[in-house]
Amino acid sequence: MNELGAAIIGCGSIFPLHANAIAGLEGIKLLAVADSDMTKADQAGVEYGCLATHDYRDILDREDIKVVHLCTPHYLHAEMAIDLLNAGKHVLTEKPLAVDLPSARRMLEAAEHSKGQLGVVFQNRYNDPSFRMKEMIESGTLGNLICMKGIVTWHRNDAYYRDSTWRGAWDTEGGGVLINQTIHTLDLLQWFGGEIASVRGSVTTDVLNGVIEVEDTAHACIDFSNNVRAVFYATNGYLVNSPVEMELIFEQGTLLLRRDCLYLWKDGKETLLCEPFSDITTTVGKSYWGTGHRRLIQDFYGHVREGKAFWLNGHEGIKALKLVSDIYNSSNRTKPQEK
Ligand SMILES: NC(=O)c1ccc[n+]([C@@H]2O[C@H](COP(=O)([O-])OP(=O)(O)OC[C@H]3O[C@@H](n4cnc5c(N)ncnc54)[C@H](O)[C@@H]3O)[C@@H](O)[C@H]2O)c1
Repeated sequence: MNELGAAIIGCGSIFPLHANAIAGLEGIKLLAVADSDMTKADQAGVEYGCLATHDYRDILDREDIKVVHLCTPHYLHAEMAIDLLNAGKHVLTEKPLAVDLPSARRMLEAAEHSKGQLGVVFQNRYNDPSFRMKEMIESGTLGNLICMKGIVTWHRNDAYYRDSTWRGAWDTEGGGVLINQTIHTLDLLQWFGGEIASVRGSVTTDVLNGVIEVEDTAHACIDFSNNVRAVFYATNGYLVNSPVEMELIFEQGTLLLRRDCLYLWKDGKETLLCEPFSDITTTVGKSYWGTGHRRLIQDFYGHVREGKAFWLNGHEGIKALKLVSDIYNSSNRTKPQEK
């Protein structure tokens, strides 16, 4: 198998998940890491035995680097992805696609004209319970889907925002709990529900006033064209990071996601349908991030290697960003740039 060269830009919290996933893949070699903080770049370069640079543009002319992972702050995704796609690289960007829809659309356009592909990390789509929920909606095993519920109650404190100053600001993070922490759950709701007919919602800062300028709490009611309704609540103001909870009510049964396990409630009986991956204990990172990074990254490389179009591309990734944007627009507190 020909070796495929990779690079990662951004050596912060999410970096080890990407670097370790690459290290576990046959035929893929991490050739470079980039971080504007040279100490972080050097540390990562030494740990993974590759070139370290402070300027991602050093990667653009490297013929041997075919795939680049973007693990940088949200406001840098568009600029970096467009430069890389224009240089013919395949780009796998962390969520969200960008800080706003116009930037995201520019990325999609660059991908259209590139020989490289654009993939987006929504790793929770790769969780077994997510596949199972999607499959049960499509097969109609439990009749039609009627409504859904998504609840995310996590904890982010001053230290989290002090640690990386791009977080907590409209310009650099693009929002708060909606665009960063709960975009995964919104992505699943829209993936399950299909075409969205209308969105009503509201965002507030309940706990982190004076620490962040964006919201820490949000709720929404999402109506889909097929008459399915989803209600959603999310906050960063809980005191622990509690596992995401979801409920999908069908005509003939209910699916419940609790503590990352999927249960079926049917005819007065609860049955466990699936548990999280067995590698949950060996995965680096936090359990509430989900365990799908390795699967998603492997799948992306599989598509790149075979020259096939990756399914979780820019067009798929922009859907959750559109939903985030619709909730901001519906709220009495909109994103400054979208007023
Ligand atoms: N999929 C998930 O579950 C998940 C979890 C956490 C973070 N993320 C995403 O990963 C991305 C990074 O988040 P993080 O928590 O690792 O942030 P972080 O602040 O910990 O790391 C970002 C890194 O990018 C570097 N950087 C900043 N400007 C740069 C530039 N111009 N060139 C090169 N490097 C630069 C910083 O020095 C830092 O090391 C975000 O998009 C975030 O939403 C995803």
